[in-house]
This record gives sequence, C-alpha cells and structure tokens, in this order.
Amino acid sequence: MGKYSREVVTQVLAAIDIVDIIGGAVELKPSGHRLLGLCPFHNEKTPSFSVSRERQQFYCFGCEKGGDALAFVMDFEGLSFAEALRKLADRAGVQLPAPSERESREDFARRNILELYAFAAQYYGELLKNPLKGGRGRTYLKTRTLKDATTAKFGLGYAPDSYTTLVEAARTKNIKDYVLENSGLAKRGNKGLYDLFRERLMIPIRDVMGNVVAFGGRDLTGTAPGKYINSPENPVYRKSRVLYGLFEARDGLRQTKQALLVEGYFDLMRCFDAGITNVVATCGTALTTEQAALIRRYVPEVVVVYDGDPAGIRAALRGVAILTAAGLTVRALVLPDGKDPDDFIRDAGGDAFRALVDGALNFVTFYIRLNGDRLGTIEGRTTVAREVFTIVQSIDDTMRVDEYLKLVARELQLDEWNVRREFAAQLQQRDVERSIEVRRAPSSERKPIHPDDQAFLAAILAVEPLRDRAREGLKGVELGEGPVADVLGAICKAGNDLSGLRFEDEAAQALFAAAANQPPMPSDKAEALVEKRICSLKREVLMAKSARVQEQIREAERSRDLERISQLLSTKVGIDREIQKLGAA
Ligand code: UTP
Ligand code: MN
Repeated sequence: MGKYSREVVTQVLAAIDIVDIIGGAVELKPSGHRLLGLCPFHNEKTPSFSVSRERQQFYCFGCEKGGDALAFVMDFEGLSFAEALRKLADRAGVQLPAPSERESREDFARRNILELYAFAAQYYGELLKNPLKGGRGRTYLKTRTLKDATTAKFGLGYAPDSYTTLVEAARTKNIKDYVLENSGLAKRGNKGLYDLFRERLMIPIRDVMGNVVAFGGRDLTGTAPGKYINSPENPVYRKSRVLYGLFEARDGLRQTKQALLVEGYFDLMRCFDAGITNVVATCGTALTTEQAALIRRYVPEVVVVYDGDPAGIRAALRGVAILTAAGLTVRALVLPDGKDPDDFIRDAGGDAFRALVDGALNFVTFYIRLNGDRLGTIEGRTTVAREVFTIVQSIDDTMRVDEYLKLVARELQLDEWNVRREFAAQLQQRDVERSIEVRRAPSSERKPIHPDDQAFLAAILAVEPLRDRAREGLKGVELGEGPVADVLGAICKAGNDLSGLRFEDEAAQALFAAAANQPPMPSDKAEALVEKRICSLKREVLMAKSARVQEQIREAERSRDLERISQLLSTKVGIDREIQKLGAA
C-alpha cells in the first residue's frame, strides 16, 4: 500500500466521518439507514449515490463506484493514495509519520517537483514585492490595475531578465538539477541549465489542493514570440486535468452553484477583483472532457464567457458541446466589441458584467444565433439544426430535451414535428453506431458478480450471528480468487470489528461498498439467503473441482494410464456425491 502502514490508514479513517467528507461535495439527504444524493461520478437525475455512516462506505447503485472516504477523495479530487491520506489526516488533525524510505519513486519525484514549484512561487513572489528587484514586473502590473489583495491571492510573481536567476536560487536551496529539469522550470543548453521564464510576470497555476503545479508567464518585453508561455506538463501537471482558478473559486462555486468559464488568466483575476469568485479558466487550451467533469463535481451549471473574437466564438461553441455532454446545464455569452472579460469589467464594471451573465442565453439559442450567417438558406438552417441535435443528444432529461427541440424549431423557423422526427432519427442512428462499437469492444475481463452476493455479503456484514454462521459454514472451502472471495475472506478473517477493512482491488472495494449500502433485510429472509448462498458457494467450489478432475481424467485417458484413471474416477465420484448431498440447485 505504498508508504503508509495499514494502522495509520485505519487511524485516519477512524478519526473522520465519511458523511462529513462526502457531504462537503455532495448534497446528502437521510433516507432510511443511509444517506442519498446525486452521484458526482456520473450524470443522473434521481439519487442513486448512497453513503452508509455505519459502515463508512459510499456506493453508487448507478455507476457502481464505491469505497471508503479515502477512495472517495482519491476519485473525486484525482489524488494519489498518499495525497488523499494526507488530506484526510490534515482534516482530522492526525499527525502522519514522516514519509518513510519506502516512498515509491513516482511519489518521490512528484514531491520533489511540488517542493520546487512551491519554492519558485515564493521566490518569484518575493521578487515582485521587492521595489528594487521587481523591475518591469512591478511597472507592468500597475498598468493592469488589479487590487493588491487580488495580486496576493493569486500569488503573482516576477521572473527577471536573466537566464539563471531561478536555477541559482534553487541550487542554494539544495534543489537538484534533475528536479529543475524535470519540473520544466529549467532547460538544458550547451552551457548548462537555464531558466525557462525570463522577464515575465509569473502566474502560479494550482491544483485542486492548492499546490502550485505550473506557471503561466506573461511576456513583459512586448517582443517575445509568445505573449504567454506555460510550464510544460510534468509529473504533477497534466494540462487537461487542471483548471486555472478552481482552487480559489471553490467557495464561490459552492455558494452560487454556477461556474463562469473564461479563457484567460487576467479575465479570471479581473472577475475576482470585482468580487465575482465563481470563475474558472481554461488558459489558452481547448476545454477537455476531463475539465468539464471536474466542473461538474462542483456545480450543475456553467456560463461560458469567451472573448468576442472569431477564435473565442469557435472555442465557445466547442466548449458548449463538451460541457453539455458532461451533464452540465450550459448557457453562453459573447461580450460586445470583441472584448474579453478583463477589458469589459475594467471599462463597464462588475455589475454590468453580472447583468450580462444573468441574461446569458441557453446554449441552443446561443448556438443558433452565432451561426447567423448560415441561416439564410434552408440547407444552412437544417445543417445547424443537426449540429444542435448532436449536443442535445447527450442530455438525459427528456423534458429538457423536449424544450430544446421546441426552441430549435422556433429559432430556425422549422416545423416542430419535423424537428422531432429528425432528432429521433439521428438518435437512433447514434444508438446503432454505439451498439456496433459495443459489440466490437473486447469483452470485459471482470467476472460478473453473482446477483445474490451483494445481498449475502450485506446480510453477514449487518448481523453478527450470520457472520459467524458464514465463517463456520465456509470453513475449509477454498473460495479461489476474485472480488467475492476477497471480500468474503476478509470478513471471515476480520473478527467482529469490521472498521479496518480496505481493499486495494477496485472490484472488491466496490463490492464491499455495495454490500455496506444495501438496505437491511428482514431477519428470516437474511437467514435463508445466507444458508442458501453458503450452500451454493460450496457447490460452485465443488463443481469447479469436479470439472478439474474431469479434465485430468481426459488427459489420463489420452495417455491410457489406467491406474490413474480409476484413481481420478473415484475422486470424482466422491466430489460428485458431496455435491449431491448439498441438495438440488
Ligand atoms: P488571449 O490572447 O485572449 O490573452 O489569451 P489575454 O488573456 O487577453 O491576455 P492579456 O490580457 O493580453 O494579458 C487567452 C489566454 O490564452 C492563454 C493564456 O492563458 C491567456 O490568458 N495564452 C494566450 C497562452 O497560453 N499563450 C499565448 O501565447 C496566448
Ligand atoms: Mn486580455
């Protein structure tokens, strides 16, 4: 399990309550023996995401994800095991032992790079604050008229016009050259390492935990080939999974239940400057499905606010499709006169900007109006309709779909009935294509779980005497491998304190979580089920054994080994008799 012992993990998990951890991200309502909410891992309208306080396990009956608080934090925030554990430990006030020598090479590399980025952010930040050394960084920043509080919140810094400022500063901190190189902050030339960022205003990019994982650097000379350069991807920075400002926007998102999506660093900072704090930015890269899913974890609605230039409009249209497919309700707007949010708010103020956001169009109307030049012909209008269909297809709410189709008809002056028929045809075509893809896909390697097993495990989890009965009934039965065997084996071994049970295998973890979130059963039913499943498990094991012996018999027949044949036959008869004793299936 990496570098933390099972005891430490158990201790951290015992110090927190999964309901608090998940409750911070998902709205949970008590329902019977458990809490229910909308699953943050897939798109749904009716809650199938269950959290058991008693068992400290979550499980989604829709997408079949499940596990304990640690598994949740890993999945939800995209953290490694060690990062998630550290986060929970911090929250619980549990002191983790110092990372031991068993730290994996990847963790070590990641930690080194994170430490370097933390150092660099602080170092660049100090240079910018220093009236003597802050040079062009300070004069430039004044022209952008951000409040000091905003500049500080985003940790802006200054990389001076030198090839070795950061490299040398890092070396005095004993940061190794290979870490500098792996981080992307320095490059190797024929005279050795040199700084990537020179004469730039430095904008730290943070991950969801608040660690600086990259920088954007804005050119201060006006002559550099790129107005902005960004850190290259590195072991702690995957461009497609990071949104600029998400860490700072978390409270704003939670309060407004809405995200504004902008393009640029200064667009975002300007919004914060004006007190608008529910904003995230893509920063020059095309929005990815991963980023859309990340937004969906925090809010159900996005307003896309891209620049009013042609590139911005194209990006907005693409973004709308991706965000809708991620299950978000999407509205969009384009600012007047080709302005970006930064320009607009500086000229017209935050309230004018808020008003525009409040009046943003739903994505159907937005899409159609932005394609105004194509709407003059019937061909143009039907093509635009079909493009809108491809976006509407990804919505799984029939009432909303219906309303959007009405809008398509109205906006494009098409017959509503024809629009519906065309949409249905396109949907059917997609389903046909999908089913072909599914058939082509290699069959899943996961063995299906016996439908009784969730209920069986739930029963023995919930009732101590049934647990004892299962232990006794399955004594000596070799359950083999797989999630059921893992979970059952662990429960049988665990004694009566089940709180320390964890599974590294994902299927076992989900199965355990599923069992822990089952509604309680009437005791006579539970008892009958347990008896029946003990019996059928035994039978399955014996049948597999019998089949293996049968296979050996066939081999013995091929080599005409009569003695072995008769020996195996009598073994098989013995096994088959045991199977019969267990009764009919
Ligand atoms: P813009 O070109 O719209 O710049 O790029 P901007 O944000 O208005 O920049 P300022 O106001 O002149 O400082 C939008 C975003 O695209 C990314 C940056 O994140 C920028 O904020 N970008 C832009 C790059 O990564 N590289 C570039 O060369 C340009
Ligand atoms: Mn700008």
